Amino acid sequence: MAAYFLVKGEQTVKGRITINGAKNSAVALLPAALLTEEKVKIDNLPQITDIDKLLDIMRSLGASVSSPGGRCLCIDGANVDRFAPPGPLVNQLRASYYLMGSLLGRFGRVEIPMPGGCDLGPRPIDQHIKGFTAMGASVEVGHGLVKVNTNGLRGAHIYLDVVSVGATINIMLAAVKAEGRTVIENAAREPEIVDVANFLNAMGAQVRGAGTDIIKIQGVKKLYAVEHSVIPDRIEAGTFMIAAAATGGDVVVEGVIPKHLEPVTAKLKEVGADVELGPDFISVKSRNGLTSCDVKTFPYPGFPTDLQPHMMVLLTKAPGISLVTENVFERRFCHIDELRKMGARITLEGRTAIIEGGRSLSSAPLRAMDLRGGAAFIIAGLMAGGDTIVGNIKYIDRGYERIEERFQEVGVSVQRFEEGEN
Ligand code: UD1
Repeated sequence: MAAYFLVKGEQTVKGRITINGAKNSAVALLPAALLTEEKVKIDNLPQITDIDKLLDIMRSLGASVSSPGGRCLCIDGANVDRFAPPGPLVNQLRASYYLMGSLLGRFGRVEIPMPGGCDLGPRPIDQHIKGFTAMGASVEVGHGLVKVNTNGLRGAHIYLDVVSVGATINIMLAAVKAEGRTVIENAAREPEIVDVANFLNAMGAQVRGAGTDIIKIQGVKKLYAVEHSVIPDRIEAGTFMIAAAATGGDVVVEGVIPKHLEPVTAKLKEVGADVELGPDFISVKSRNGLTSCDVKTFPYPGFPTDLQPHMMVLLTKAPGISLVTENVFERRFCHIDELRKMGARITLEGRTAIIEGGRSLSSAPLRAMDLRGGAAFIIAGLMAGGDTIVGNIKYIDRGYERIEERFQEVGVSVQRFEEGEN
């Protein structure tokens, strides 16, 4: 039965919330664990459906997964003996593409369906393939399947044509056990890439420069057991920070790395919120009203595309014209039609949304179309007059752990119902 959220309107986000482990790190760390035959322990994993699905795929390849409790999982890849993950599972999540790099590193070959994930416009994997090919792999793409074969991977010099998180991590995974040195130029610099590099290095890999645009990897013969804790999720943190500013509230997000949130704190200050940083927390307090501003998404350290919908929702309240330009995913605008149903005045010109702010939103039945847009609808519902229903929440559950309970922690009413219940 399809579930939905009922969001009570005109509420204020207030309180403290401890941020979970980063989805985008976790979905790369788990496949990376298959690069060794030894046991790997990963802590601070978020409990989200993308992780459940990824673990199902890893089990289907022969990995055994046990839970010593809490948010910790032990992965034993000793018996992994398959290099062709099953299609129906792989199709359900984007991050399954990291199995390409990790299975290539482990077996020198992989057969995998084209990855699924949210529809944000075209999401090619040509840069991943370019990297594997440069390392000596032969890649065949056809009938929805990617087949990669090698006679042993060799280090290579790879210049990425576009800054891609997925390609950077995937090439890193394939390169750690390749023969010789790999250099990735024009690499993405996201904190999740640094987290994966730290994990690999703790296993015995030699990755240098993660977090800059040149990553150098000296291949090693073997990787070993490791224990690792996932970094905090900057997108979950940003969601609650924006929600507080948008609802005239006051929130402290705890257990974060404030540096990772610099582009978000800078924007929130620009719209008129009071933002204070501590060593591992950020407080966001809304002052009198909001100021319009322009937002341009870019790869890290630019403003994250994953918080673009949330920021757009906030800007519907800021008097004046705001421009939101999406530079990462060309069609990441499917939330606009739903926001218009709530009375938002937004027009789209190419990659730029023009928001005529200063209007109150009113409740409407909404359907989440993707993970982050869906979470932004909850913020819109909190701002609106009346109660808002957000349907299709399977998208939101992919990447936010029980988001309704998290919003309840900061004092607002967001309830989950199954269809027919209420
Ligand atoms: C990752 C994140 C996602 C985030 C995005 C951008 C994960 C699991 N997902 O997605 O939450 O929104 O980074 O920060 O970590 N591109 C190509 N060819 C390629 C690869 C990418 O043209 O081979 C393009 C994409 O279409 C897009 C841009 O590069 O326009 C950036 O994509 P990329 O950084 O690869 O995003 P993902 O890794 O899919």
